[in-house]
Formats: sequence, C-alpha cells, structure tokens
Amino acid sequence: MTTKLYIKTYGCQMNEYDSDKMADVLHACEGMTQIDRPEGADIILFNTCSIREKAEEKVFSDLGRARALKLLNPNLLIGVGGCVASQEGEAIVKRAPYVDVVFGPQTLHRLPQLIAARRASGKPQVDISFPEIEKFDYLPAAQTTHGTAFVSIMEGCSKYCTFCVVPYTRGEEVSRPFEDVMREVESLTAQGVGEITLLGQNVNAYQGATEDGDTVDFAFLLQAIAAQPLVQRLRYTTSHPREMSQRLIGVYANTPKLAGHLHLPVQSGSDRVLAAMKRGYTVLEYKSVVRRLRAARPDIAIASDFIVGFPGETEADFEATMRLIDEVAYDASFSFIFSPRPGTPAAEMADNTPQEVKLARLHRLQARINELEQQYSRAMVGTVQRVVVENLSRKNAAELAGRTDNNRIVNFAGSPGMLGRFVEVRITAVSGHTLRGEAITLA
Ligand code: SAM
Ligand code: F3S
Repeated sequence: MTTKLYIKTYGCQMNEYDSDKMADVLHACEGMTQIDRPEGADIILFNTCSIREKAEEKVFSDLGRARALKLLNPNLLIGVGGCVASQEGEAIVKRAPYVDVVFGPQTLHRLPQLIAARRASGKPQVDISFPEIEKFDYLPAAQTTHGTAFVSIMEGCSKYCTFCVVPYTRGEEVSRPFEDVMREVESLTAQGVGEITLLGQNVNAYQGATEDGDTVDFAFLLQAIAAQPLVQRLRYTTSHPREMSQRLIGVYANTPKLAGHLHLPVQSGSDRVLAAMKRGYTVLEYKSVVRRLRAARPDIAIASDFIVGFPGETEADFEATMRLIDEVAYDASFSFIFSPRPGTPAAEMADNTPQEVKLARLHRLQARINELEQQYSRAMVGTVQRVVVENLSRKNAAELAGRTDNNRIVNFAGSPGMLGRFVEVRITAVSGHTLRGEAITLA
C-alpha cells in the first residue's frame, strides 16, 4: 500500500515551490502519492507562513484539526515546515506535542531522514538550520506536466526591512550557481516547458557563481536563459527596487522574451515611512526606476506591494502613497495592513493609528488600485494576446485558463490538448480580475 501525503501550503510562491519540492523528495525516497485532503493521509505537512499574524494563527488552528485525525489514526505523522517552523522551532513541539517533525525552508530536503529518525527514535525531530545552498543539491530533478515552470534561483533576503521576518526565517541571500540554473532550465524546456518564472525573495539580487570561478548578475542570467531557443517567455518574482540596475533595465529593451510585467514592491509613497522601513530608496529614486523601465519597454505593466498603517504613518504619508499610485498607475497590487512581527524592529515602534483608520486607508487604496486594474483590463478588450495555457478553467472544465504577457488570466473555450501551449487569444470581455477571450490560433 502506498503512503498518502497531504501538504497544506500557506503564503507566497516560494512556499508553493517548496511544497512541490517536499512532495518530490518524499516521492523519490518513499514512493508516496499526494492527496488533496487531510482525511486518510499517512503524513500531513503544513508549509507555513509567518509574514503576518493572521497567517501564523491559522496554522495553529489547522494543527488542532490534524490532531483530531491523529487520534483516529495514531500512525499519522504530522510535520510543520516553512517560516513559522523556522521561527518557532522546538516551541512548536512544546505547544503541540503531537507534531512529529519540524523543518525549515532550508532543510526540507532532509525530510526523508527526519521522518526515518522520528520513526526509529519515537521522538519528535526538529531541524531548522540554514545549511546554505545544500538544499538545491539534494532536490530531485524538476518535473513538470504543464508548459510553465518555476525555477528557484536564490533564497533568503539580506535587506532587513524593519517590518519583515523573512531574513530571520529564510536566512540571508544565497544564490544558486549559474550552471545549475541553466541545467534546470534546459531539462525543463526538454520536457516541453516554454515559459519559465525565476523565483526568489529578491531575484534581482542574484549573484551566481560560475564553474570557472566568476560571478554573474541577474541581467546576465536573464539574457542567458532568453538565448535558449526553446524558452518562449521568461518572468521573475519578487524583485527589489534597490536591485533594479541599469543593466537589468536594459534587458527590457533588448530581450523580447522577457515578459512585459514587473512586480516591484514599493510599500509606501512617503520618504519618511520608507526610511523608517529601511527600504533603502526614496520615492524619487523609485520613480526614476519606473521612468527608465518605461523608456526601455513602453507598455510594461507594473505591480506592487503596499503596507498601510506602518507605525507613525500620518494622513499626509498616506496621501503621498495615494499620489504615487496615480503617478505610476499600477496595474495590480497586493496591499496589507502592517502586522507587527515579533523580533522585528518595527514591532517595537510606537504605533498610535487606530485600527479603523488603518482599515479605512486600506480600503481607499485598494479601491483606487482596483479602478486602475479595471482600466488596464478594459483597454485589453479587442486586442490579441499571446497566452500560455496553464490549466483547465476553475469554473468550467470545458474552458482553459491562460496567462497573458502582462500577467492577466484569460478564460476561453479550448481543448485540453492545448494545455502547456502558447495560443493567440482575442480578448472579448473583462470579468472581475480575469478576462474572457476566444482562441484564434496556436501561437
Ligand atoms: N522582496 C519583496 C520586496 O522587495 O519588498 C518583499 C517580499 S515580502 C515576503 C512580501 C510582502 O509582504 C511585502 O512586500 C510586504 O508588503 C508584505 N509584508 C511583509 N512583512 C509585513 C508585515 N509585517 N506586515 C504587513 N505586510 C508585510
Ligand atoms: Fe522582507 Fe524587505 Fe526582504 S520586505 S523579504 S526584508 S526586501
């Protein structure tokens, strides 16, 4: 009988990627099959997120539910990975003694050994160390069934923004060697992948060692990947404004395979708040990056992240953020109310803004971003877009869901045979955050 594995993923794309890798290592070592609900599983893994308080609390309530399943099946193994695990370590086992293994984002490749040690010793196993780049060396080769794939090129963050836990939970920036990345890309394109998304907490801080002892930057890596004939489209996430070098901006001018969409988190439009966040740029510097990007690629769509209600944010600071939104005319964005994270400097800062004021600011900001998003979407109606077909549509199995160059999802009628292919689609309507269209030809 095969072992059944259930993984619940919280948080960002880095975690989605890590969950796939957990399934890969366990499949390779123990021949497990993945199921999509916790009932009936032999192993349940929680790949957690601690970026905001809400995400963290959810994990503990879900753990309580897993405990009930363990009462029915005492052989059930429960593992906690990801950023909450990295931050809490042994404390998780103290708070939830029925947890069997605790592992961090950088030790997920050791899961088979941790599980074996748990079984052999009867004791919970905790390994949340940061063994640098070892993780990449022990992961099975990337497999994909669709035409798109994520390739992780760097881990961690060394920026230490005052509000953020990532440098503590994922460690400092470590880049994967250049030739390793290229080999993974080649193996993916050989399996039919046409669109590659490079992943990392700060992808554009990439500094990859080469086999001849040199180091290459992110601009070099993008061009090297785009030069692969089987690569049709290339994107990356997430990037940091401070790492948008002129070389990288230049790649937008001379590399048509690089998608015309960029997620460039700004967080705030006020210099005072940016300084308190230790973001390392001013509003003017950020706008200069945007201006140069648009000079290189006039129709580039720019998305962002915003934090509303950072400690000390005044009405005037918030108005400055609203002005920036209009000036940049963001295409889409994620926005959050500041969540104090234990151990970060911002959690200690005086914060006098009432929660309802923060909430009102968030709603105003989101309403404006939504309007802009709708304007861009409406302007796409009637145009022909090259989309890569990623999935069957969520709402209707006779429909496909594809992604445009500017990162919009389009639903259109088509056959499952189109999965993974590039298709030309005429946009016919806007439907909420997604678009509707009709396929014209295979691109
Ligand atoms: N590399 C990205 C950048 O350049 O900013 C940041 C990645 S961070 C993991 C994802 C987003 O979570 C941030 O951009 C920020 O908007 C949000 N975030 C992080 N810490 C937060 C906190 N304490 N409260 C609210 N939002 C937070
Ligand atoms: Fe977090 Fe700032 Fe790095 S938001 S991931 S510390 S760039």
